[in-house]
Amino acid sequence: MIYEPYRNKTVEPIRLLTRSQRKTSIQAAHYNLFNLRSEDIYIDLLTDSGTGAMSDTQWSALMRGDESYAGSKSFFRLKEAVNSLLGFEYFIPAHQGRSAELVLMSHFVGKGQISPGNIHFDTTTAHIEFQGGTAKSFVIPEANDPDNMHPFKGNFDVEKLEGFLKTHSKNVSLVIATLTCNSGGGQPVSLENLKDVSRLCKQYGVQFFFDAARITENAYFIKTREAEYKKWTIRRILRACCDLADGLWMSAKKDGLGNIGGFIAVRNEGLYETLKKYTILFDGFPTYGGLAGRDLEVLAVGLKEATDIDYLRWRTGQVAQLGMWLEESGITCIKPFGGHGVYIDARRFMPQIPEDQFPGQALSVYGYIEGGIRSCEIGPILRGRDPKTGKHKPGLDLVRLAIPRRVYSMNHMRHVADTFIALKKSAGMLRGMKFTYEAPLLAHFSSKFDWA
Ligand code: F0G
Repeated sequence: MIYEPYRNKTVEPIRLLTRSQRKTSIQAAHYNLFNLRSEDIYIDLLTDSGTGAMSDTQWSALMRGDESYAGSKSFFRLKEAVNSLLGFEYFIPAHQGRSAELVLMSHFVGKGQISPGNIHFDTTTAHIEFQGGTAKSFVIPEANDPDNMHPFKGNFDVEKLEGFLKTHSKNVSLVIATLTCNSGGGQPVSLENLKDVSRLCKQYGVQFFFDAARITENAYFIKTREAEYKKWTIRRILRACCDLADGLWMSAKKDGLGNIGGFIAVRNEGLYETLKKYTILFDGFPTYGGLAGRDLEVLAVGLKEATDIDYLRWRTGQVAQLGMWLEESGITCIKPFGGHGVYIDARRFMPQIPEDQFPGQALSVYGYIEGGIRSCEIGPILRGRDPKTGKHKPGLDLVRLAIPRRVYSMNHMRHVADTFIALKKSAGMLRGMKFTYEAPLLAHFSSKFDWA
């Protein structure tokens, strides 16, 4: 058993509506969990992004926020934290991950260019495509098998990447490692694999960047799963990873332990000067980048707290505990369990539901009706349709239970497990769903559904 390395100082009441109230609210939300009001949810596992609880030190740091438009003290405090933890000399705040992506892809990606990655997160792909480029996945094949116990299922297939760079490097400006690999189930990338990819990038003259939203969780997995680094501190591992990259961006709403914020960090001064111009255009003067001074302060503290080994042990342990409870009851999840959530295989949960009746969406809806839990479909609806064929892009149909940081207790997780275990018992009776309105863009957020 793993125990919480903190105690509560403030509490936020939550309540479980009655089953009939839950049925009414999900129907009124057109069976799309994004349309629910948060007060009608008991346990909110929609995302781990910006939903964490701040520490008392972070709340105290808020008061130090310097709201000067330019050159604020808060900017320099966050810059110092980024320099000392990650080792990059140049730093630009961004209001969240995707605004950092807009800045970076505006510079790096042009029409016809290809950006290889392990698996890009959706917003990254969208920003690459927005600039006329293509995102291409080079994750190892083990990543597609939920039962495969490979310890680093976020790794690149290095041979395949090399083959690609040999013939296409002139169309590649940026290789991206997403740490951990969210779209693959929060799976980590090993330090050895990052070394190999870094070497290839140098050899073929392309930039190597990290999408570092969950880089401290990734470092924890390196420490616990990669024998050579067992004795290393998290900070040493972080630094060793970052030393391999030309730059990174981070949605600091995850491992930055903030409710909002992000940043870009690079080594090269010329690149920094170029990126700054885009930040001024999109996000604001480059010493605030769309954030309040107090947000910068919170991240300077949060980034350091996220490297604490007791916190990381608890964090990843809580995710794994929930996963184990589900697996013990015959519910197939992506294994090994990832850093920030448990991903249930919805097709195996309800094999009688045809793929075109969206078992992932249906299971998310049932999770709400049964236990007041909000989860998220990571399947065909999220991936959307292939513009050429009009068919939903292929892949697994998952329900992600993303766990906010330092928010829920193990008893809350027990309730989540009991909810899905109860559903599993009557899985054969559960029904699929159909669109009543399919939003043309990002169908996930605004489509409407009904029972099939
Ligand atoms: N990169 C990764 C790996 C992410 O997981 C996210 C967001 C982003 C970039 C974009 O950052 O939201 O700050 O603009 N992931 C959230 C999630 C939304 O629920 O997984 P953002």
